[in-house]
Amino acid sequence: MPTVQVTRRESFNAAHRLHNPKKSDEWNRATFGKCNSPNYHGHNYVLEVTVEGTPDPDTGYVIDLAYLKQLMHEHVIDRVDHRNLNTDVTFLQGILPSTENFAVAIWQELAPRIEGGRLVKVRLQETEKNSVEYYGA
Ligand code: NI
Repeated sequence: MPTVQVTRRESFNAAHRLHNPKKSDEWNRATFGKCNSPNYHGHNYVLEVTVEGTPDPDTGYVIDLAYLKQLMHEHVIDRVDHRNLNTDVTFLQGILPSTENFAVAIWQELAPRIEGGRLVKVRLQETEKNSVEYYGA
């Protein structure tokens, strides 16, 4: 049986600040630069979620992309869009909201909820030039 990967892409925007409260202000400024600005800054994020599986014989789908879209909205997008990632998002509580940590947290929200295929990749783009990929390791 063929194994196929399918991807859904969604976008949202959110504010954050990179700041490690266990470190000094000086360390934070030196490490994170502008991303440590006290009053937060925003990004236009692009989230791509890839699911792998065998096409269903009746539908030809690995996963219904409308269903994947709904999962992404319910468990991620609707909870982060137009929010402050440091203060407003329960699944990021206590997590430094770097793109890396954010991608891992998104994986943890989605992986147990996906039926019909298995989550194989979360790609999160923070800017045109910066993105991360997480494969669940
Ligand atoms: Ni940033």
